[in-house]
Amino acid sequence: MNKSNLFIALLCFSVFVACKKEEDQLEHTSNIQVERTLFLPETPYDYAGIELPPHFQTTALSLYESFANPVDITNDGATLGRVLFYDTQLSENNAVSCASCHQQIHAFSDPGIRSVGFEGDLSNRHSQTLVNLRWARRMFWDHRVNGLENQVLIPIQDPIEMGMNLDALTARLQATPYYPDLFNAAFGSDTVSAERIANALSQFITSIYSYRSKYDEGLMNNFANFSEEELAGKDIFFNGETRCNQCHSTALFFDPQARNTGLDYTGDLGLYELTGIESDKGKFKTTTLRNIELTAPYMHDGRFATLTEAIQHYNEGILPDPNLDDRLAIGFEPGGTPIEMNLSDTDVANLVSFLKTFTDEALIYDPMYADPFQP
Ligand code: HEC
Ligand code: HEC
Repeated sequence: MNKSNLFIALLCFSVFVACKKEEDQLEHTSNIQVERTLFLPETPYDYAGIELPPHFQTTALSLYESFANPVDITNDGATLGRVLFYDTQLSENNAVSCASCHQQIHAFSDPGIRSVGFEGDLSNRHSQTLVNLRWARRMFWDHRVNGLENQVLIPIQDPIEMGMNLDALTARLQATPYYPDLFNAAFGSDTVSAERIANALSQFITSIYSYRSKYDEGLMNNFANFSEEELAGKDIFFNGETRCNQCHSTALFFDPQARNTGLDYTGDLGLYELTGIESDKGKFKTTTLRNIELTAPYMHDGRFATLTEAIQHYNEGILPDPNLDDRLAIGFEPGGTPIEMNLSDTDVANLVSFLKTFTDEALIYDPMYADPFQP
């Protein structure tokens, strides 16, 4: 090796060492708080005073609300919840926030089949939309948790999702300049605790109502705003033959019961994972169809890329299953022969047009639910 070659080799070596050092430092400093700027309105948004239309004030929904027992919302409490929801400090290495997997533009779900956690690993299931959870008691696709306040601390500690320890999180937030004031406004003292984090996150999520879609307008003007296709799709959805609305019911198009829809579910047994009861195999949360256009891909494992594929499952793909829901069986016999809907391509297209009337643009661009770290 001549002199100049040696020099180049040495130079490379020292650059390599320097790079390596920087990497180590980065890894180390990533545990330390990151400077962020918050952009909050002078007067908080009015989360507590949202007025819902009459079709949200029904006997069925009051009943579901009493089961769900939602937290009380204050404007300062939900504001704190909003900041927490968008803060990457809730994950161990500052890599992800709740909003990484629950994106406003997708009605607080994730377009990925599975979601990318704090260390790049994938979640076990497809992420869920977070709208209208005020009326939902059971959380997750397999219903494994009761109530939002019990749910929200789980993703924070999940080894794939955020990997954070609650004591470390409490200390980290206590030392972050913007939190003491926010906790004080929300709870009357600046002490950060896991309980308060859970309560504030629940307040924010409970305040995410979806009620401003074309469908909601339709309910108030006798569907004068609907096209021919949307009206035809609406008939198919509500006619007794498809039985769609017997599970996706009320103005929320959901159901508090988990149900078996005749999917091939090997590997993920749904509600059975929680109860161990044979007849619960293959039962999953009857999720809301609100904003369904924005929450692809579909089902607990994101197996269907489009709404047409999801509807074709009901139309011609329901598998025989001892736990098949009676609503999807001939003669309403539980575990019976799957019904055949015989929907034509036009019917399916009309049904898709109808489902798209649930899209709530006002919600997905509403600044009160947006990232407060963005100006
Ligand atoms: C890495 C992605 C990821 C992150 C980060 C994440 N979630 Fe989720 N979330 C999911 C997935 C996936 C599911 C469905 C999991 C299941 O059913 O097993 C889910 C489900 C939920 C549900 C249940 C909704 C329902 O209808 O049952 C709520 C509520 C929720 N998440 C809130 C949060 C909150 C609050 C945070 C932040 C503290 C958060 N999530 C962080 C991916 C994520
Ligand atoms: C027996 C009750 C039942 C009936 C009837 C039913 N569904 Fe569902 N639906 C469910 C359940 C449960 C899920 C979630 C299944 C899963 O993820 O494994 C679901 C999921 C969906 C999804 C995907 C939701 C998402 O967020 O991924 C769409 C779209 C859908 N249903 C539309 C319809 C349509 C349209 C009809 C009528 C043709 C219908 N459903 C009939 C119970 C039902």
